Amino acid sequence: MEKIRVAVVGSGSWGFNHVRTFYNLNTCELMGVSDLNEKNLIRVKNQFPELMTSKEYTDFTRSNDIDAIVVPSSAETHYEIAKDALEHGKHCLVEKPITLDIDEAQELVDLAKQKDLVLMVGHLLLYHGAVDFLKKLVDEKKIGDMLYLYSQRVNLGKVRSNENALWSFAPHDISIMLYLIDSKPVRVSATGQSFLQKKNNIHDVVFFTIYFENGTIATGQVSWLDPHKIRKFTIVGSEKMVTFDDMEIREKIRIYDKGVDGWDVSYDSYAESMSIHDGDISIPKVVLTEPLKREDSHFIECIIDKKKPLTDGQNGLDVLKVLVAAQKSLDNYGKPEDIL
Ligand SMILES: NC(=O)c1ccc[n+]([C@@H]2O[C@H](COP(=O)([O-])OP(=O)(O)OC[C@H]3O[C@@H](n4cnc5c(N)ncnc54)[C@H](O)[C@@H]3O)[C@@H](O)[C@H]2O)c1
Repeated sequence: MEKIRVAVVGSGSWGFNHVRTFYNLNTCELMGVSDLNEKNLIRVKNQFPELMTSKEYTDFTRSNDIDAIVVPSSAETHYEIAKDALEHGKHCLVEKPITLDIDEAQELVDLAKQKDLVLMVGHLLLYHGAVDFLKKLVDEKKIGDMLYLYSQRVNLGKVRSNENALWSFAPHDISIMLYLIDSKPVRVSATGQSFLQKKNNIHDVVFFTIYFENGTIATGQVSWLDPHKIRKFTIVGSEKMVTFDDMEIREKIRIYDKGVDGWDVSYDSYAESMSIHDGDISIPKVVLTEPLKREDSHFIECIIDKKKPLTDGQNGLDVLKVLVAAQKSLDNYGKPEDIL
């Protein structure tokens, strides 16, 4: 069978990882790379001399020798490049966030559907073995009913000037929240502050809370101005609690047999009716493969097998709707905003 021919548009600090990954996949052939920055193209040429390089992405989106375009360019260019790719009959993997504007994202989703092309979004963490594990745990009710969850994605640096911490980091957390919580996100509130780039109002730290139709809440803290490097999820269920700590090399998941029993029974004296159970902590073995390799392989598989991606365009749009409402709330000092 002929291999899927791929080109990558945007070979900056993250895009280069896609270049390396697609180059090494045996289900596709990486043909070329586009970047506006000459230095990035030289780096590609040095490492992969046989690849075509061009500053003009249209050399690939409009070429008959390319089947699929990967778009890890800066977020504000995703729409233009992905639209051109889809219009010219190319399958498309766009980095997160899918676009900056809901109507534009909807247009891409509609275009892909109309042209019967795969449109996928790089919500990387949904290809993480630990997230697979959490999903199964939650779906099989091993922690009882999910009550709430919170995530922390904080570190010191890399300070961005083209987007705030919400848009830079939170797509990861929001994508996991929507994946794990089997209910519609209806409202979000967000607060934060810009300390380093006050004049441009670029928030370095953001705290957001998403309210779901079934009463579950999910809250997140994102920041590039923090003494700790934390990438952690905590899920509190009615029977057990679980953490996913991505900074741990091996023991990423811990299940705590802890909880409060009797909390949902109506007694006159609530405190007397409740008892705390504080049992064992277990550390299950989780199969871990490189998430980016899984993500990129999945994209190619979806093209070959004509499958809907786990993180398809609609999923990108769903995450974007939360981001847009959260930004609105952030601009209004935390006033809750409906998610469209
Ligand atoms: N999934 C993840 O875990 C993850 C991690 C980091 C970044 N990202 C996403 O990847 C994207 C890129 O992030 P980055 O950190 O690599 O940014 P970056 O600024 O380092 O790289 C972006 C590159 O795109 C190039 N570019 C911009 N417009 C272009 C055009 N019209 N044609 C060709 N090249 C163009 C720029 O020259 C630059 O080299 C962003 O959307 C970001 O949110 C995802």
